[in-house]
Amino acid sequence: MALLEVRNLKKYFPVQRSLLEILSSRERKYVKAVDGISFSIEKGETLALIGESGCGKTTTGRLILRLIEPTSGSILFDGKDIVKLRKKELRQLRRRMQMIFQDPYASLNPRMKIGNAIAHPLLIHNLATRKEAREIALKMLRRVGLTPEKEFYDRLPHQLSGGQRQRVVIARAMVLKPEFVVADEPVSMIDVSMRASILDLLQEFKKEYGLTMLFITHDIAIGRIIADKLAVMYLGKIVELGPVDKVINNPLHPYTLALIESVPSIRRRKRARRIKITGEVPNPINPPSGCRFHPRCPFATKKCSSEEPKLIEVEPQHYVACFNPLIKH
Ligand SMILES: Nc1ncnc2c1ncn2[C@@H]1O[C@H](COP(=O)(O)OP(=O)(O)O)[C@@H](O)[C@H]1O
Ligand SMILES: [Mg+2]
Repeated sequence: MALLEVRNLKKYFPVQRSLLEILSSRERKYVKAVDGISFSIEKGETLALIGESGCGKTTTGRLILRLIEPTSGSILFDGKDIVKLRKKELRQLRRRMQMIFQDPYASLNPRMKIGNAIAHPLLIHNLATRKEAREIALKMLRRVGLTPEKEFYDRLPHQLSGGQRQRVVIARAMVLKPEFVVADEPVSMIDVSMRASILDLLQEFKKEYGLTMLFITHDIAIGRIIADKLAVMYLGKIVELGPVDKVINNPLHPYTLALIESVPSIRRRKRARRIKITGEVPNPINPPSGCRFHPRCPFATKKCSSEEPKLIEVEPQHYVACFNPLIKH
């Protein structure tokens, strides 16, 4: 059963208008950060959301935890639409869903001892006495490899390395034994030498708690290691979605292929079609007409600039939004 199901989710951020624009009553503009995406994550499964910076990944993660309000669409968690939940119900749900942010330093209070930071969620949700919370936090510190735990308990965030800080953030997210976690580029700001051990730690918690996870990354190679399914996002839209093996071995969207080809460790030596895209992600205030990828796509035809392709199932479980999907190569 799907633990999370997102249907036609949209988030448009209004753009600040200048005084001149207001006076000339020019129409309000919007950043279409997320523009009608749908996907589901089965219980115990990890979906990796992949794409270049600025394509709407973080906004998607924040919408799902309802840290921001969607413009439209629905988010079903365990069958309930969380967009419609009231404050009290949302509070109860918050225990079951956690987020791990990209920057561990920014997500920790610089003046709070890290042990107390881990104990804090237990106290907020009235799940333990101070003494019990301290004991649990100590166990958690040990569990995430910050030992001797009694020494680490009293440290402040600035006294730790980036990798150690991210371990604290993970411990704090896991202390409530959540069912669902959004991990937003959890290793992108961590020293390369420590990335693998942090990913391992997440995988261990996933197994132990039967976690369901949305893992956000710009790095398709990390997505391949950590996820069961991949969703490739471009300018607010999902352009390809499917099981990891199918997407990596048989990418259907030229953008997916380009992402794969940009990573030496997973690119294939022999491929009939080579592809390299240039330029940057266009501005989401005025996205290109038709298929948003068409200005950067080497296979674009006339149709691609006028019509928008829908996400369709090309082989079982494997979806693509492209008029000229790549065939086996
Ligand atoms: N609070 C906000 N107000 C206005 N625009 C925003 C806001 N948050 C994100 N955006 C814009 O939405 C787009 C998608 O951003 P984001 O979701 O952070 O992408 P990603 O995580 O893939 O890099 C970007 O163009 C970004 O500038
Ligand atoms: Mg982001």
